[in-house]
Amino acid sequence: MAVKNAMTADFLRSAYGGESMAHMRYLQWGNAAQKEGFPNIARLFEAIAYAEQVHAHNHFAEIGGDVGDATVTAGAVFGLKGTVENLQGAINGELHEVEQMYPVYYNAAELQSEKGAMRTFRFALEAEKIHADLFKKAQDCAKENRDIEFKSVYICPICGHTVLDEAPDKCPVCGTRKELYKSF
Ligand code: FE2
Ligand code: FE2
Ligand code: FE2
Repeated sequence: MAVKNAMTADFLRSAYGGESMAHMRYLQWGNAAQKEGFPNIARLFEAIAYAEQVHAHNHFAEIGGDVGDATVTAGAVFGLKGTVENLQGAINGELHEVEQMYPVYYNAAELQSEKGAMRTFRFALEAEKIHADLFKKAQDCAKENRDIEFKSVYICPICGHTVLDEAPDKCPVCGTRKELYKSF
């Protein structure tokens, strides 16, 4: 499936750029958390980096069309500091996606009857809400100089849905079954 309208195509490319950078940024902030003595916060970053990879992959697939050059402009958080500050960067980035970016992109796609783009933007929006919440919880712990507690992080490989400790029987966002969730 390929996108038909230029505006939605722009938004898909921008979202692809933003998700790609978030993926790499979380891996780096995860390494920093590991070095600081927060192995679970590091694991949370690694798991959510994978969810952002899923989003980037979905957006890329949706662009479809001919192979060709494009300049991508995507907002991103930069900086490598301590884990409390890195988590603030993560929270800010996720909230930007939840409050502005994905609602605007989704509504544009809907206006242009771009069903595939609506789907991939909705998948991302639902996951980013959870990410913002989990990063806040992790930051509350890091501020008290302790690690976050959980057994595992589970990520839906189709939509990036993210959940602690146990995967649901079916993904509440896309319906993927439990066995396919990737655990960290
Ligand atoms: Fe994402
Ligand atoms: Fe996210
Ligand atoms: Fe899912």
